[in-house]
Amino acid sequence: MDVAEVERLIKISKEHPLMPETFIPWQQDPLPEDIFLPEILTSLHGLEIYDTLTPAQKLELGRHELVQVIASYSWGECLFCLFMTRHILTLPPEDVEYRFLLRELIEEFRHQEMFGQAIAKLGGKPIRQSGLHKFFGEFSNKYLPADYLFMGSVSVELVTDIFGNHARRSPNIYPVIKKMFDLHNIEEGRHILFTKNLLKKYAAKAGYIKRTLYSYVILFNILFVRTMYVKREIYARIGLEDPDKVFKLATGNFKKKFSETCLVDIINFVDEWKGFNLATRWAWRWILEANV
Ligand SMILES: [Fe+2]
Ligand SMILES: [Fe+2]
Repeated sequence: MDVAEVERLIKISKEHPLMPETFIPWQQDPLPEDIFLPEILTSLHGLEIYDTLTPAQKLELGRHELVQVIASYSWGECLFCLFMTRHILTLPPEDVEYRFLLRELIEEFRHQEMFGQAIAKLGGKPIRQSGLHKFFGEFSNKYLPADYLFMGSVSVELVTDIFGNHARRSPNIYPVIKKMFDLHNIEEGRHILFTKNLLKKYAAKAGYIKRTLYSYVILFNILFVRTMYVKREIYARIGLEDPDKVFKLATGNFKKKFSETCLVDIINFVDEWKGFNLATRWAWRWILEANV
């Protein structure tokens, strides 16, 4: 990406900031016909048990799972902000990359504030990350080199962007949530553009082993995101009898759904720099059920 293009992105960020305070109709409460998460994105849709739920249970399932999605976004973005803050210390402040990442930091902090407010508006009680998520999130954030972290971030952004697109385009979605995803989609679009181009430079120089490692970093980041959504406790909250059994069914169901709905863009990206090879393809198929 040339300097002029990054300067253009910085300019848009400065001249057309999207403020969650005014962009989102916070004063609007959900109407009785509003939903929180499109049915297709809920973990139980597609299973027989879903058809046995009452309309109120379906609505509640969507609300709790959406809260989980938002809280996971927020945590992931906060971790990435920690990394960016450390990373810009290695760059001269007049450098175009430094100045873009500052804009990204500003926007990501606004997003986290917006996510927190949305959870409060939904009356949500997010379930904390598991110990394993915490450990891997914090460990990789601290110790992986910058190119690997950018690879991880773009994979998460591409996957969650598709998720958000499904949500904001679905009819009947609660307007506060629709506008939240709209705002996020616009600003993340610029982050993705910048990061993808930054990574093209890294990937162009990478040999077989490095491309294999990049591919695995992306794969594990996606797995990391996918496993943050489906929670046993949510099934207990909506009054299902055997939450453990439902959890098992839902995990398999969501894995399949996730691979069908959320992986298109990231697969194209990895394919662009030949990240699928003999050493990686089997893992993508086996772990993510990806069609590669
Ligand atoms: Fe964000
Ligand atoms: Fe971002």
